[in-house]
Amino acid sequence: KSVAVLISGRGTNLRALIDSTLAADHPARIALVLSNRADAEGLEIAKAAGIETAVIPSKGKERAEFDAILYTVLRAKGIDYICLAGFMRLLTTDFVQAWYGRMINIHPSLLPAFRGTDVHARVIESGTRFTGCSVHFVSPEVDAGPIILQAAIPVPQDATADSIAAAVLEQEHALYPQALRLLAAGRLSIEGQRVRIGQQTA
Ligand code: GRF
Repeated sequence: KSVAVLISGRGTNLRALIDSTLAADHPARIALVLSNRADAEGLEIAKAAGIETAVIPSKGKERAEFDAILYTVLRAKGIDYICLAGFMRLLTTDFVQAWYGRMINIHPSLLPAFRGTDVHARVIESGTRFTGCSVHFVSPEVDAGPIILQAAIPVPQDATADSIAAAVLEQEHALYPQALRLLAAGRLSIEGQRVRIGQQTA
């Protein structure tokens, strides 16, 4: 299976996904890394790994126009699955529906709590004792799609937004590859808001 990873920035989750797909028994390979920003550091990670990159500048483009170009590029490349990894551009409902069940995202909170941006500062303010990360299918409502996998960590008393971000990021790098492997192996099925993880068949 062919995977496209969409990024806007530093690309540490991209790196974790690339590393994991190098395993000989992996059901997917990353065929394309696409950014909406030419200066995304993650593009260098992809190039260093010998993966094709593409930039579709989003600045000044209508959402529909951007998504139409994106759709064409992904189709031309024969992409089966999309991983959003720090991709900071909202996608249109049409695009999301066209890829429903084949596009996943990682979010640095225990969804459905703390959707959106600036998550770690809000976690600390809230006084919650646990946080973590979630990999979910992308649905039209942001950060609200069916949850595939989650990892939880405690929020220490003296935590700062930065210390929590770092601790959660470490979990993200382990969790996202697991979810992609399940997806590419065809082991995930969506039942309403729930995701069923099936047995390994091969
Ligand atoms: C991660 O925290 C991810 O959960 C969020 O954006 C950040 C991307 O980091 N969606 P990186 O670009 O993968 O390093």
